[in-house]
Amino acid sequence: MSRNVLITNPTLHPNAKKTLEELGFSVFIASDPSEDALIAQINEHQIVGMFVRIEKITGKIFDSCPSLRIVVENGIGVDNIDVAAATRNGVQVANLSLGALAVAEHTMAFLLALGRDLRRNDITTRAGQWLSFNQPSFNSVPIMGSKLLIVGTGNIGRQVAKRAAGMGMELLGFDPYLSRERMAEAGIRKVETLEEGLAEADFVTVHMPLTDQTRGMFSTQQFAQMKDSAFFVNVGRGPIVDEKALYEALKNHEIAGAALDVFEQEPTPADNPLFTLDNILFSAHVAGTHKTLMADQAILGAQSIAEAIDRQGLYALNVVNERQLQAQKP
Ligand SMILES: NC(=O)c1ccc[n+]([C@@H]2O[C@H](COP(=O)([O-])OP(=O)(O)OC[C@H]3O[C@@H](n4cnc5c(N)ncnc54)[C@H](O)[C@@H]3O)[C@@H](O)[C@H]2O)c1
Repeated sequence: MSRNVLITNPTLHPNAKKTLEELGFSVFIASDPSEDALIAQINEHQIVGMFVRIEKITGKIFDSCPSLRIVVENGIGVDNIDVAAATRNGVQVANLSLGALAVAEHTMAFLLALGRDLRRNDITTRAGQWLSFNQPSFNSVPIMGSKLLIVGTGNIGRQVAKRAAGMGMELLGFDPYLSRERMAEAGIRKVETLEEGLAEADFVTVHMPLTDQTRGMFSTQQFAQMKDSAFFVNVGRGPIVDEKALYEALKNHEIAGAALDVFEQEPTPADNPLFTLDNILFSAHVAGTHKTLMADQAILGAQSIAEAIDRQGLYALNVVNERQLQAQKP
């Protein structure tokens, strides 16, 4: 088998080519991303792996290029790739979800900061007010053993689950579109109604898309259903949460605290009433990124290609058609 890889877009971060070469691959850059040109180039160089951005990787490409083993997409969406045709031809299609991993890390930072009361500790320590554990206002709660309700147990929700399980949290999930079995594979106990989950949870974290169903899904009633000792995190989309209702719930101590990365209106106005409260923590819709994301993602993609080629028969990271490939094995 050759060790030739095709990068279909010259704007991909240079770390992709560099890492592939360090891993012993020869790298070609497509001069023309059209279907026929790609087929010609893949067959000429017996390309085994492709690293793509937005180029269309069609069924005809998969059907015409038997040397292909893996296609890596430099992002989460694989709508530019004919995944069914890839599967039919035994080709792995992997996506790169460092953005999702970043959101999961940000969520963990919020959960830990809320549970450990870090915002208030920072303010009081700077002000010379030593917050001792025997004062009534000492608020830290344990993370280990506490119950985390994940609302939306898709990719990010399950990445959060993995990390929260590592911290010893008990995981509950609300997601009508994911089966009990699928959740159990991720170590999550499925709750059938949001109300049931909210009543049990010590922490609630939201990871749903904004849809007609999810818009305003967290309002007065939902905050009332939460324990008054519970914390609420939204890193999904702002309009999922009714900010006025959240303000009232926090002000009246119907819940203990909250953290938001996303807002009903972005950027949120400087006079947002939530800013007057001290039991809430903010970031400015930055959960899905970090300083080195594109550079890191290019390295991860190159490593995924190497993994699929060098560990033949095994799957690279984040293979989107892994189940289908496994199912069609003889
Ligand atoms: N803050 C950020 O920087 C940032 C970055 C990336 C993504 N996001 C948000 O995170 C969301 C989730 O991303 P993902 O990659 O995990 O998507 P995903 O599609 O993998 O998962 C979303 C999950 O939400 C579930 N869901 C849909 N409607 C629901 C409902 N009414 N009740 C409960 N669950 C419901 C779906 O079944 C799915 O499992 C995105 O849609 C986006 O809004 C935020």
